[in-house]
Amino acid sequence: ALIRREDYRPFPWLVPQVSLAFRLGLEKTRVKSALTVNRNARADHSSTIRLNGDGLTPLEVTVDGEAINSWSLDGGDLMLTLAGDSHLIEIVTEIDPSANSQLMGLYASGGMLCTQCEAEGFRRITFFPDRPDVLSTYKVRMEGPRDAFPVLLSNGNCVARGEADDGTHWADWHDPWPKPSYLFALVAGDLVANRDTFITMSGRKVDLAIWVREGDLERTAHAMDSLKNSMKWDEEAFGREYDLDTFNIVAVSDFNMGAMENKGLNVFNTKYVLADRETATDGDYDAIEGVIGHEYFHNWSGNRVTCRDWFQLSLKEGFTVLRDQLFSADMGSAPVKRIEDVRILRSAQFPEDSGPLAHPIRPDSYREISNFYTATVYNKGAEVIRMMRTLAGPERFREGTDLYFERHDGEAATCEDFVRAIEDGAGLDLKQFRRWYEQAGTPKVSLRLEHQGDTATLHLEQTVPPTPGQPDKQPVPIPLRLALFDRKTGRHDGEQLVTLTETRQSFSFSGFSQPPVLSVNRGFSAPVSIERETAPEDLVFLAANDDDAFARYEAMQDLVVGHLRGLLSGSIGKAERGEGREAIGRAFAAVLADDSLDDLMRGELLILPGESYLAEQMLIADPAAIHAERESLKAWLGSTLEGEFAAVHERASAVESGNSPEAKGARKVKTQALVYLAAGAPERSAAMAAAQYDAADNMTDRQGALMVLTGLAGPERTHKLIDFYNRFRGNALVVDKWFALQSSSLHPQVLEHVKALAEHPDFTLKNPNRVRSLYMPFTGTARGFHAESGEGYRMIADLILALDPINPQTAARFVSPLGRWRRIEPVRAALLRAELERIAAAPGLSRDTHEQVSRSLG
Ligand code: ARG
Ligand code: ZN
Repeated sequence: ALIRREDYRPFPWLVPQVSLAFRLGLEKTRVKSALTVNRNARADHSSTIRLNGDGLTPLEVTVDGEAINSWSLDGGDLMLTLAGDSHLIEIVTEIDPSANSQLMGLYASGGMLCTQCEAEGFRRITFFPDRPDVLSTYKVRMEGPRDAFPVLLSNGNCVARGEADDGTHWADWHDPWPKPSYLFALVAGDLVANRDTFITMSGRKVDLAIWVREGDLERTAHAMDSLKNSMKWDEEAFGREYDLDTFNIVAVSDFNMGAMENKGLNVFNTKYVLADRETATDGDYDAIEGVIGHEYFHNWSGNRVTCRDWFQLSLKEGFTVLRDQLFSADMGSAPVKRIEDVRILRSAQFPEDSGPLAHPIRPDSYREISNFYTATVYNKGAEVIRMMRTLAGPERFREGTDLYFERHDGEAATCEDFVRAIEDGAGLDLKQFRRWYEQAGTPKVSLRLEHQGDTATLHLEQTVPPTPGQPDKQPVPIPLRLALFDRKTGRHDGEQLVTLTETRQSFSFSGFSQPPVLSVNRGFSAPVSIERETAPEDLVFLAANDDDAFARYEAMQDLVVGHLRGLLSGSIGKAERGEGREAIGRAFAAVLADDSLDDLMRGELLILPGESYLAEQMLIADPAAIHAERESLKAWLGSTLEGEFAAVHERASAVESGNSPEAKGARKVKTQALVYLAAGAPERSAAMAAAQYDAADNMTDRQGALMVLTGLAGPERTHKLIDFYNRFRGNALVVDKWFALQSSSLHPQVLEHVKALAEHPDFTLKNPNRVRSLYMPFTGTARGFHAESGEGYRMIADLILALDPINPQTAARFVSPLGRWRRIEPVRAALLRAELERIAAAPGLSRDTHEQVSRSLG
């Protein structure tokens, strides 16, 4: 059934208290729940109560102590009739966690028990109003065999524990903070903890623990540092203090997503906890810091203030992503972090916004909410809130968020509540701004700079493209930070903020006797795509002179995008290819030589726009042509600048390894130099890559070298892949890398490789990390996924069909790569459509996959 935002009604009953008693077992867990229910005076009267259930049978139901038989089941939900205004409902259910391959609800992972309840997993554990606006305090009794489950954890504080003589033990957990069911969690298993403490700003001591399997303990130090940094940062940046005596994090290896912010008991994918230099890359370290921060920040933006309904998901996710972005920016290089965030937005969210799955950050309807944990809700959601911060300025924005937390603490709020709090607290008028919540699609801004006399006039025009269900759009306010550079001095007189609110608008700037060079959307102040005709020499100027790091990066990107798009669309003849390349080559040479740049930033400036972003720039894309042109430019750069890249590689190789930004930057440019050399001078680079691999004392260098080798032919490829596997075969996260390297490679036989790897003894459809590592990178390969034969598409469709009965949530994530058919050349478009139709016709498809496939077919 289609669920609509406009149909929201408050639940007729309040459930102030919940008691849960678990008798834990891997194959059989017995759950006894006791719910105190009171009539909700602020909702429509109803004498029945609907308690959601998914795959449950009630073994016993009592109301006020009396067993009743008058219950019924309606599509899995338990329906009870209640005579009065206030009752105690008790229900017993039994579940089999070991059979739960969906990994939603209570499930077994490598001998331990854990839960994932967001969004609608709690109903797989017990009957309950499983919706985020029903807030309750939870008391949990956990009881189970001591040898199998020596550690028993749930939300809040452990208030009692004890032993029985039959080899079982128990623990009682109380969470004093009212919460919705999606924040419930329990974990039972044989785990060890890295323990630490944190003193909050008001002087309270919090016991911290990160729980992992024995043997993984040495790899938790970075996660613990990140946690303490997060707690401190949220006090300073947002005035938010932690509110329980304990904070537990558990790492599990079977997990559908990155991590989960359950109150006081965050559950994490091992990928975002475990790291040491030998097995984790610099990117992994950054991701751990970001995700630990993200989940911790949810304690306020998500838990203390939660969501009224799932249409409001961006209320917590968009805001929390913004918070984790700001945190990571403060912990490391802010400009580099901003560039990375924009790259993610453009490669993941822009395609979503221009495809069949486009939806506003606050969707209007859904069938399966798991399908809306998207780059749009998360990352575009963060950009929308960031724009409010840009409009208000950081101090006034903080007044807005303070007001939001104060006003809505303990409530289930809406996006509208958030916007109103920012309006009132920061003193903004966000009337028109609310359209950012309503409309899908990436706004396009075309601009033209005109110069006359001493005045430069900027003419802006915006269009918000039509998206499914939204043919007509209104203009949105677009805050653009800009600067006008004097060509001679290379300087500007200060940055300005202009806000485009109309469809067409012009802004004049006087005092320019010569036409200035325009730097616009600095810091990516608005999540729009800018269309402008900029002379390559102006882009080269900005790439060299702009004092805004993002704008500098953008100038490099524009230079390359303009060149490749011109060649691909035929507006630049192949004969003129050389001219464009020369300009790009000069800009690259300048970046390689510029001593004022640190290597982390240099690394950003050397990244070519990705194939999906390039495809996004074309009305109809030919993935093979995009790949060929981009690779050819890469090869040209690699051979033209062979000496420069080799010199960078040598210089960077001499930097002592370690955790410093210098060492990290050196590792980044080192592998990048190899990447260009591999394209332009394959022989030389194979030897260099093999040497880098052998010399590596850290995973960043080793993985970088192996990535380059995996794309090349020759014996080193095989040798090093075997070496890597043998070295790390016991470490699941590194074996994931081994799969991912091969499935993302530039090797012409990538498709055959993936096919063979699916038969590897270490491959399993049961583990989401393994499935993603083999197949997600593959969906980005031009030669593999987009093979003209259609075999790549078929492989992903087969995967979806095989995975759907096991883990529908993860299966449905693979539909979107197939959904791009409207924007792809006709031969591939037909092949993609045929695969989507084949999936749609399969019997017994999950709601998750069915919704994504039918939206994709449109
Ligand atoms: N709230 C989690 C986070 O972003 C994600 C959980 C998503 N779970 C799901 N089943 N879709 O931090
Ligand atoms: Zn989140």
